[in-house]
Amino acid sequence: MSASFSNFAVSVRAETAFTVLAAAKRLIAAGKDVIELEIGDSPFSTPEVVVQAGIQAIRDGRTHYGPSLGIPEFREAAAEYVNREYGLSVAADNIIAGPGAKNFEQLFCEAFLNPGDGVLVFSPHFSTYPPNIARRGGRMVLSALKHARDFRPNLDDVRKFLAEDPSPKAVFLNSPHNPTGGITLLEDLEELAELLRGRDIAVFSDEPYDRMVWNGRHYSLLAQAEMIGQTVAAYTFSKSFSMSGWRLGFAVSSAKTIELLGKLTNTALSCVPPFTQLAGAVAMREACDERDRQMSEFGRKVKRLVDELNQVEGISCLMPGGSFYAFPSVASICNRLGITSHGLAMYLLEGADDARGVACLGGECFGEAGSGFLRLSCAEPDERLIEAVSFIAAAVKQSSRVELYLSTHAAFRLAAPYAVE
Ligand SMILES: Cc1ncc(COP(=O)(O)O)c(C=O)c1O
Repeated sequence: MSASFSNFAVSVRAETAFTVLAAAKRLIAAGKDVIELEIGDSPFSTPEVVVQAGIQAIRDGRTHYGPSLGIPEFREAAAEYVNREYGLSVAADNIIAGPGAKNFEQLFCEAFLNPGDGVLVFSPHFSTYPPNIARRGGRMVLSALKHARDFRPNLDDVRKFLAEDPSPKAVFLNSPHNPTGGITLLEDLEELAELLRGRDIAVFSDEPYDRMVWNGRHYSLLAQAEMIGQTVAAYTFSKSFSMSGWRLGFAVSSAKTIELLGKLTNTALSCVPPFTQLAGAVAMREACDERDRQMSEFGRKVKRLVDELNQVEGISCLMPGGSFYAFPSVASICNRLGITSHGLAMYLLEGADDARGVACLGGECFGEAGSGFLRLSCAEPDERLIEAVSFIAAAVKQSSRVELYLSTHAAFRLAAPYAVE
């Protein structure tokens, strides 16, 4: 007999993007032409100067354990980088290296939450927030992000959380936002800081898309007076420098919090490989021009995708303030076809055509508040993005094919119509 798993492990749902990615790859291996808009990865190569720095660091023997907080060269480069980009005045002891940004969700929860503590999460939300909050027995309190408000956080819900929750302890903030592409404006950050400053409330400020702001610039809560003591901001090289497979990121916070996160890192993963950190230091110092070229290319592609989507009857898509995702409302199409939005996504991949498919995600993969939307990334070449939209436009007209798909996928039948905003 095998030993039973913990209640926590049994309750974990992995990021759906990876599940759909696996399904898409299976279909591609079987010969299907799939336009892949499901995963948030960069189609660009890691900048050459960074690749060379990584190879050189391996040749130089930087292949052993390093400090759990990160090597000094990396921490200094990251401090300079955020000071330059976001007007902060932090030092190396405000920085900890990590394997991307995701790991800091877990460390943040370990650092601040006790079982039963309330954590305000704006929803739809990144799908690994719930399991990381659950790991510590935290209690997620959801605040809906609304299409009608450009998916900006609702600060009245923050007030209510602070006033009414039995033990409010943390807020998860993510700007630019995945999946909606919404931005927390500077005025929102100022107001949020006013509400939280001086209280025993910690903020996880998840900022992986910091270089993908399409109008104006990115602002961090860290830059608000005194907020560094209550904030852990997470950054990654995955998106900005096309380094998702290197697994490198860092967090910025007060020296006291960073020291604690170092202790927690030590117990979980010892350290991030020194050679990836050396490559990351070179990225921050020498690859920002290439980063900016790649990012403006993304901005152009997002606009193109959104413009195309808005030509399709029944689809309404905001131009995202940031990120490389389009998050169109497909509620009226779903209502007409009687299919859920993730059902629609899976129909586009598996059911709409035998030879072709489009891989994307239903908004509910990011929580109930995402129902009625699709998330499409724009990592494919322009002509494939345009083909994907034409494919979607044709596929949603084939109601008998949808019905056939639903006859074998009953879980995707829409129980009650979505609200159409
Ligand atoms: C909101 C958000 N947080 C964290 C991550 C994880 O970033 P990384 O792969 O660098 O750990 C992602 C990646 O898609 C994301 O969208």
